[in-house]
Amino acid sequence: MHKIQRQLHVDHHHITRLLNCLSKEIDCYDFNSKRAADLAVILSALDYIDSYPDKWHHPSEDVIFDHLLEKDVKESRLIEQLKNEHKEIVIETDKLSELFDMVANDCIVTADELLGGARHFITLQRKHLEKENEFVYPLMDTLITGEEWKVIESKVKIQDDPLFKKPSKKDFEYLYQYIVDLENEH
Ligand SMILES: [Fe+2]
Ligand SMILES: [Fe+2]
Repeated sequence: MHKIQRQLHVDHHHITRLLNCLSKEIDCYDFNSKRAADLAVILSALDYIDSYPDKWHHPSEDVIFDHLLEKDVKESRLIEQLKNEHKEIVIETDKLSELFDMVANDCIVTADELLGGARHFITLQRKHLEKENEFVYPLMDTLITGEEWKVIESKVKIQDDPLFKKPSKKDFEYLYQYIVDLENEH
């Protein structure tokens, strides 16, 4: 497996872990929650999504997806849809970050707004990952040639994941520990 492909696979695993943790904190805004949300975790998770998946993961996939589209595969419509979702996800990350920044600045935001916005965001992300895993990632194994990987490599520069690459960047240490602790509870 090419190293870019491997990194994308690993990213999916990491993004899933992150969404589980974000989802757990978001649930704290539910009326029957027994504890308050950890706003630092939510803000940090959104900051991470903005700084790595939105800036590296999805744009790298776009480069690979364009190669697949040239091959006129039967999944072409889905691939176009996934490319559109990349744009949608970036917009939704910004919107949600703005909402939680308002909370951090003591502006009034209703729990319904937070829950609705965040759950929509998490569902969008999870469904996106599932579709890629099930229908598009397998095509990378069979359809992208060694020569094409070289072309892709010239356009996609591997970047370090600031949260999951050990040690995490300082800004994400707290979030990383939160994720590990949460997983150890189960
Ligand atoms: Fe994607
Ligand atoms: Fe992806």
